[in-house]
Amino acid sequence: MALRTIREYGDEILEKPCKEVKHLTPGLALLIGDMLDTMYDAGGVGLAAPQVGVLKRVCVIDVAGGDEEPCPYVFINPEIIEEDGEQEGYEGCLSLPGKSGIVKRPNHVKVRALDKKMQPFELEAEELLARAICHEVDHLNGHMYVELVEGELVNNEDIELEEETES
Ligand code: NI
Repeated sequence: MALRTIREYGDEILEKPCKEVKHLTPGLALLIGDMLDTMYDAGGVGLAAPQVGVLKRVCVIDVAGGDEEPCPYVFINPEIIEEDGEQEGYEGCLSLPGKSGIVKRPNHVKVRALDKKMQPFELEAEELLARAICHEVDHLNGHMYVELVEGELVNNEDIELEEETES
């Protein structure tokens, strides 16, 4: 496994829709392993294949916190089949380092996908995991969260400052 270069906002590949995956190949297994390594190395909670330059409907997510055991999810051809509720909060992206913006998302989603062995599964998710699923599925459709940001993008240091002054 290896780290792959993360494409940054403005790269045209991030604006293109991804193709459905039809078969499990050695290349796909390698891609998934590299995406997990790249996500953990960058300290992100999710990564979609176009962010490493591959236009396939594959994404990985792990929203476990620093002290928790890793809990990686692999989604191939994910489809959000139900969503309800609403959450509003800061969202960021490894393709736009150091920035965040406030985005509204459903608080609960149900997703249908294939796992890394191409076995179908469904998952119900809430809060941060639901947000991450929506964010990554958007990437697979060629969209970035910045399109949904209410107000301005802010520097992450400024959010941390705000939180510090609040506590
Ligand atoms: Ni992203």
